[in-house]
This record gives sequence, structure tokens and C-alpha cells, in this order.
Amino acid sequence: MAKINSFYALMVVVSLLTSRTLAKCPVASVCAIAHAGPSIGREVVYENTNFHTHAVTLYVTGKHSNIAVLYLTDATGIVQPENKLLADSFGRAGYLTVAPDLFNGTPAPAGRDPYNPNYNQTEFLARHNPKVIDPMIDATIRYIRNVLGINRIVASGYCFGGRHAFRVLAEGRGVSASFAAHPALLQDDEILGITGPVTIAAAENDFAMSTDQRRHIEDRLLNTTQPYSLSLYSGTEHGFGVRGNVSIPQIKFAKEEAYFQAVRWFDSWGKAARNQYHITVSTRKTTSMSDTPIIKGPGYNFTADPTTSTFTVSPKSYLAANQNENYNVLATGSLVFDLSTQPEPRILLLQRSPGDSMPNRWETPGGGCDDEDESILHSAARELWEEAGLRATHISGPVGEPHLFRSRSGKKICKFNFLVQAEVNSKGHLEVKLDPNEHQKFVWATLKEVQEKKVNDIELAFTTADTENVILEAFASINKDH
Ligand SMILES: *[C@@H]1O[C@H](CO)[C@@H](O)[C@H](O)[C@H]1NC(C)=O
Ligand SMILES: *[C@@H]1O[C@H](CO)[C@@H](O)[C@H](O)[C@H]1NC(C)=O
Ligand SMILES: *[C@@H]1O[C@H](CO)[C@@H](O)[C@H](O)[C@H]1NC(C)=O
Ligand SMILES: *[C@@H]1O[C@H](CO)[C@@H](O)[C@H](O)[C@H]1NC(C)=O
Repeated sequence: MAKINSFYALMVVVSLLTSRTLAKCPVASVCAIAHAGPSIGREVVYENTNFHTHAVTLYVTGKHSNIAVLYLTDATGIVQPENKLLADSFGRAGYLTVAPDLFNGTPAPAGRDPYNPNYNQTEFLARHNPKVIDPMIDATIRYIRNVLGINRIVASGYCFGGRHAFRVLAEGRGVSASFAAHPALLQDDEILGITGPVTIAAAENDFAMSTDQRRHIEDRLLNTTQPYSLSLYSGTEHGFGVRGNVSIPQIKFAKEEAYFQAVRWFDSWGKAARNQYHITVSTRKTTSMSDTPIIKGPGYNFTADPTTSTFTVSPKSYLAANQNENYNVLATGSLVFDLSTQPEPRILLLQRSPGDSMPNRWETPGGGCDDEDESILHSAARELWEEAGLRATHISGPVGEPHLFRSRSGKKICKFNFLVQAEVNSKGHLEVKLDPNEHQKFVWATLKEVQEKKVNDIELAFTTADTENVILEAFASINKDH
């Protein structure tokens, strides 16, 4: 009996140990990956592009997420089933994934032979150079931000797209971390220019990246201050990350492992989102009855602080994502300082027309967002141009809490206030040009003048207490920065 008891005692200890140390956890499960079968995403055509680009066709797959994957295909494009399937696999990893058709429906032939006689690679690459591809990718980024309402973006690129996974990590492009499988044509300045973490999956035998080139790339990675990693997969050839022959076990392993490499990279680094989004929209375009484009307002060309990222979505998508019984219309106000008068910065104030509502009251430039505005920040830039003739160059903030109020017609308005820097004229001055229908006068007021509500002999009666408060808050926030 005694013997049996100690045997049981031992069993209990052993089973406790096993349950604590050998419990099975789901590590990278290959069930997320589909190598074959039908794809599950949808194609959409995004037309809200800048003046220079045509509409872009996008393959969209996966559920809404906080971070989106920008999937940049190899030269075989989104028509290649393996690209769609791999995009779907990122969707199953929890990332809404968007793959632009970089080649407008005419990609390189899908055959695995790069020396296919029907395919002139020199000509293909010349036609799809970065000057052509960058705007399509930028349009895709705008779609992810403005239509899908996702501000954090990571990129996964293959061969042709691998180079672009580096390019989108450059300052201002808006991607925060990248994965590149067997990137082709990668340039030194593209590696040195990254502003976010990058990881590479390299093939042992790659006609587009020789061993010497790979070592050269490693040396350039050593030059960056960004986190990086590079994995070299034996038995693989160029293209294995997407189109590897998965009936060969070593290649199947490498393809799956490269996928996990990307997912783990995004899980670890995607939240960083340090890469500031630089909005460059050349013109505002509306279409008249006769269908001729009317170019209204200046070229919008401004940068925005990461703190404004919530407002880089269109007013419509903001309202859809933030349903609130207290407001149904959005508005913006611009707090513009003339800092050339330091140590006494001055803020731009406008006096309303005698014939308008709240006649003769003082306010900052601003107004309601239009449905056509590309983002809430664009609304602020547009109003600043229309009301004061100033072009926004940089937007930061918001300053203070949003202002909630009702218009005379009963609209429930939510107004955000931003610090806006504007372009100076050739003499270095901020040159204000009023719209006489809206405003009769402007002043550049110091903090003391705002507090005393008097600039020389002009009395400043503000539109609302909120307006007065946000002006004071704006002075406090710029004084903190200087
Ligand atoms: C491929 O295209 C390039 C550039 O257009 C051209 O110079 C070259 O002759 C072409 N090669 C073949 C084999 O057609
Ligand atoms: C990269 O780093 C090496 C070693 O520190 C240095 O010699 C080289 O000049 C750097 N190259 C560039 C392009 O920054
Ligand atoms: C994939 O590899 C298998 C096994 O070596 C081979 O039979 C098959 O032809 C290959 N498929 C392609 C498309 O190369
Ligand atoms: C946008 O502004 C930057 C910085 O002022 C300037 O270098 C760039 O040329 C401008 N781009 C356009 C399209 O106007």
C-alpha cells in the first residue's frame, strides 16, 4: 500500500509539472494560411484620387481593424490568385488588408519564368516606375485613412512591391512598419530613408537580389537607426514568399515562415505609428453641370502632426464612426499665429460682416465641413483659404475640447480648433485677403490685447465665450512650445 501511495504522489507531482510547463499553446497556426482555393475579398474602385492619378482598383479583405495592412504585390499583380490568397491570410491574422492593382489590369505574366519571351522586363519596369506607382499607393493610403477610417498602416511587399514597402516608410508617406519579401531594385537612399521598422525575407537563390546585393542591403540596414531584421531561407528562389511551389516541403515551410515573420513584425511594431502623414493634394476639383473640372482654391499642400490623426478622415466617415446625439454636423476653426512678432506672438482674428448673423462680432477663420472635403483637416485648410486667403502649410492640435453648439437653423454642430501655420508671401509676411461677404476687418492681436478685448481703438466682442477661451488656450499652448 505504502508503495502505491508514493507512486500516486509521484504521479501527481509529474502531472502538475507537465500542466505548468508543457501546456500546449497555439503558436503560429498554419490554419490562417491558404495556399490554394477561392479568395474571399472584394474589389473596389477608389476614385477619390488626387488630380494626377486615375482611379485605383483595390482588393480589400479581412475585418475592420485598428491597423491595416497595405499589401504591395509582385509584378504579377492582384489578378494572380496567390496574391489574393496571401492578402486573405493577413485578413485572418486580424488585419484589414488592402492591395492596390498597381498595374491597372495589365501585370507581368504569371509564369514563374522571368525570361518569358513575351515579357520585356525593361519595358515593364520603365512603364511602372516609382513616379507612376507612388501616387497609386498614396491614393490607397488615403482610401485606408479616409474611407475605412484606419490611421495606422503597415506594409507587406513582394519583389516589385518589396521595394515599395521601403519607399512607403519614408518620412511623410504614413506607413509605420514594413515587411519585404525578396525585394527587387531596392536603392540605397530608400533603405537609408526609412522612418520605421523593417524586416526582410530573402531567398537563397534570387536573380533579383544576388548574395552581394543582399550583403550590401544588410550593410545599409546597419546604417539606419530603425529596428530591422533579415531572414534568409535555404532552398528558396525569387518569389517564394507568394508563389513558392508549396508541394516542395522546404519551400512550403519558407513561404509560411515568411508570412509569420510579417505578422509577428506587424504585431510587434505596427502600433508605433511614428511616421507622420504628409498630405499633398495638388488641387481641389469639383465637377460642374457641363462636366468641366473647376479648380477651386489653392493647391492644398500641408503637413499634419500625428496628434491630428483622428481628423485625417473625411467628415462623413468621422460622423459615421463617432455617432453622437449631441452633434450631426462638423466644423473647424483655425488658430493662426504670426510668430515674426516674437516675443509677442499675434493671432489672426476676423470681424463678421454687419449683415451676417452675429454681426460685427470677432472670431477665428473657420466654418462648416463640406461632404466633399477630403478630410477634416482639409476643411480647415479650405476655410482658411476662402476666408483669409492664406494657404495652410502645417496643422497641429486640436486645441481644447470641441465646441458644441446649435446653428440658427437648428443644426447640432461640433467644432474642432487647430493650430494652423500658413504660407508667407515673397516678403515673408502673412498676407490676409478677406472675403467681403463674410468679414469686414481683421487684426493680428497679442495675448494682452485679447485679454483686454481691445486692439488700438478697436473693441473685440467675440462671437462666443468658447471662441474667446480657445484663443486663450491657443496662446497657452504656443507659449509652452517656445
Ligand atoms: C525591351 O524594351 C526595351 C525598352 O523599351 C527595348 O529597348 C528593348 O529592345 C526591348 N527588348 C526586346 C527583346 O524586345
Ligand atoms: C554606414 O555606416 C558605415 C559604418 O559606420 C559608415 O562608414 C558609412 O559611411 C555609412 N554609410 C552611409 C551611407 O551612411
Ligand atoms: C512543384 O513541385 C513539384 C514537386 O517537385 C513538381 O512536380 C511540380 O511540377 C512543381 N510545380 C510547378 C508549377 O513548378
Ligand atoms: C509642397 O510644399 C513643400 C514644402 O513647402 C514643397 O517643397 C513642395 O514643392 C510643395 N508641393 C507642391 C505640390 O506644391
